Amino acid sequence: MRVTPGIAGAVIAVLALAGCTGGDDDPSPTPTASASDGSDATMVIGGDDHVDNPYDGAVMYVNEDWSTNVRETAGESTDAVLAASMKAVANQPTAVWLDRIAAIEGTSDARGLEAHLDAALRQAESAEDGAPVVVTLVIYDLPGRDCYALASSGELSATDADMARYREDYIDVIAEILAREEYADLRIVAVVEPDSLPNLVTNATDSRCEDAAPYYREGVVYALDSFARLGHVYSYLDAAHSGWLGWPDNAGGAVALFAEIAQETQAGFGSIDGFVTDTANTTPLEEPFLDATDTVGGQEVRNASFYETNPDIDEVSWAADLWSRATAAGFAESTGIVIDTSRNGWGGTARPTAASSSTDLETYVDESRVDRRVHRGAWCNPAGAGLGMRPEASPEGYPDAHLDAFMWVKPPGESDGSSRLIANDQGKAFDQMCDPAYESDRLGGQLTGALPDAPISGAWFPAQFAELVANAYPPVGTDVTTDGALGTPTPTLGSGACTAMLTVRDSWEGGYVADVTVTANVDVSNWSVELPAGTVVRDGAADIWGVVESGGSVSPTGWSATLAAGASATFGWVGVGDDPAAGPLVCNAS
Ligand code: BGC
Repeated sequence: MRVTPGIAGAVIAVLALAGCTGGDDDPSPTPTASASDGSDATMVIGGDDHVDNPYDGAVMYVNEDWSTNVRETAGESTDAVLAASMKAVANQPTAVWLDRIAAIEGTSDARGLEAHLDAALRQAESAEDGAPVVVTLVIYDLPGRDCYALASSGELSATDADMARYREDYIDVIAEILAREEYADLRIVAVVEPDSLPNLVTNATDSRCEDAAPYYREGVVYALDSFARLGHVYSYLDAAHSGWLGWPDNAGGAVALFAEIAQETQAGFGSIDGFVTDTANTTPLEEPFLDATDTVGGQEVRNASFYETNPDIDEVSWAADLWSRATAAGFAESTGIVIDTSRNGWGGTARPTAASSSTDLETYVDESRVDRRVHRGAWCNPAGAGLGMRPEASPEGYPDAHLDAFMWVKPPGESDGSSRLIANDQGKAFDQMCDPAYESDRLGGQLTGALPDAPISGAWFPAQFAELVANAYPPVGTDVTTDGALGTPTPTLGSGACTAMLTVRDSWEGGYVADVTVTANVDVSNWSVELPAGTVVRDGAADIWGVVESGGSVSPTGWSATLAAGASATFGWVGVGDDPAAGPLVCNAS
C-alpha cells in the first residue's frame, strides 16, 4: 500500500508506524524504499518527491534558539569587531540535536521538534521561489550512548528495557511527528547516531562498547526503517572522520559494517541516502599544503607521527575514500556525503600560509598542517579551532568526495564536554579528554589541548564560540549576508565578495602600525573595509595609505578599487592607542 500526501496527519502517522509491507493499490517502489531483494518491502509517504540531494535547491533551516545564543554572546562581547563577526553568522543554519527523549517535546533550553518544524514552515513562507526548507535533525539517544567516551553518555543504558524506550518513546515519537501531513513539504535530513557504528569498528573490545553493540545495531536499523517509510526524510549515517576511520583496515571494516546494517533494513541500501563525516569534530576539510603521498626526507607525509600512516589526512580525502568503498560494497552511486564544517576552519594567526621548507618530515608536517591540535585524537573543545566553510549545498571543487553539502551539524559554541565533573540530569559524565590539565595516553602522553572552564556537552560555551569566530576559516568578514532578522532564512552561502585581514606590523607604548590585505573573491569594481571600532589614525590623512577614511570605514584611492577575482590590495595606518586585534575585518564590495 502506498500513502500519498493529502491524507489527514493522524491517519498517515498510524500507517507509518504500523510497519506495513507489500502493496495493494500502487506497489511501485521509490528510490529510497525499494527492498534490496527487489520486493516492495515498505510503504512510503511523500516518496514521489524524494530527490537525490535534499540540500539541493533548498533553504537550510535556521535554528532560532542557536541564533539567540549567538546574539546574546555578541551583545556581551567587549570586542566590537568580534561582536560584529558573531552577529554576521547568527543566521547560519545549524542542525537540531534530539539528544534525549525530552528534547522531542522541548526543554527549558530549547524548543521541541514540533516547534522547530513549525518555525521551518514559517521560514518556507519567506523562501524565494517557493524553495523548500531542509531541516537537519541529529538522532542521538541510543542505549549505552558514547560507549568509548564519557562526556556524552546519555539517559538510556544498554538494556532490553531501554532499547524498548528507544523504539517507543524516542524513534516512534519522532517518526509520528515527521509523518504529519503539515510537514510533508519540508525536507528532513536525519543524521543517524553519531559515533555509534564507528565505535563498533575500532573500539569493539572495550567492555562498554561490547555491551552496547547489539543495541547500536538494532537501534540504527530501527531508525533507518522508520525513516525510510517517510519519503521526505533522508537518512545519513554517521561515518566519523578521517582521523578515526581513514586507515584502510578501519575504512574497510566501517564500510563492511555499514553495508551489513543497510542489508538488515527493509529497504536495504535504499534506506541510506548518504553519510555524514566530521560530526562534532574539527578535522580540517583540506590540508592545503600537504599531500599524504608527498615525500620529504625520503618519507611519505602520511608517515609523520601526526598522521600515523593514515592516508586520509583530511575530510575530503576520507569522503572520497568512503564513497568509493561504499559504492563498491553495494551502496548506490547517488549516495552523497555531508561534511560537518562547523568547527574545522583552523584560521587565525596560527594558520600556516605556505608549505614548510624543512627537509625533516616531522618539522615539515608540523609547520605545514593547518590542523593545530596536539594529536588527531584530541576531540574535546580543542583550542585553536575556528568556524569552517559556511553551510552550502552541493559544494563544488571536490568531485571525488561526492558532497551533498557542507553543514554545521554540531552547533558551534555548544560544548563537547565539561572540564571537570558537573552534576546534571542528562547522564553526562566527566571525560578527562575535556580537562586541559590532563595528559592522555591516547594523545601520546600530551596535554589534551581542551579549552578550560567548559560546561557539560551540549551546553552553550561563550568562550568557545568567541574563539571559533576569531579563528574562522574562511574568515567571517567574508560573509556579506550577515545580520538579517530572526527567522529569516539565510541563503546558502559561498564566500563573500572580498576578504580583509589585519596584521599589526609594529607596536609601541601608545601606538602601532597596522597593515590590511584586501583580497577580492570575485571581480569587484569597488570595496570598503570597516576599521576596528575606536581606531584613531595618528596624523589624519598623512598617516593612512592606500585608502581614504570616512566615518570609521575606508575606501580605496585610485586603481586598487578594481580588483579581479583573487587579486589583492593593501593599505595601512599608524594608529594611536592599543593594538587592534589581528584577524578579519568586515569587507564589502560591489
Ligand atoms: C551532546 C548533546 C548535544 C550535541 C550538540 C553532544 O556532544 O552530547 O547533548 O546536543 O553535542 O551540541
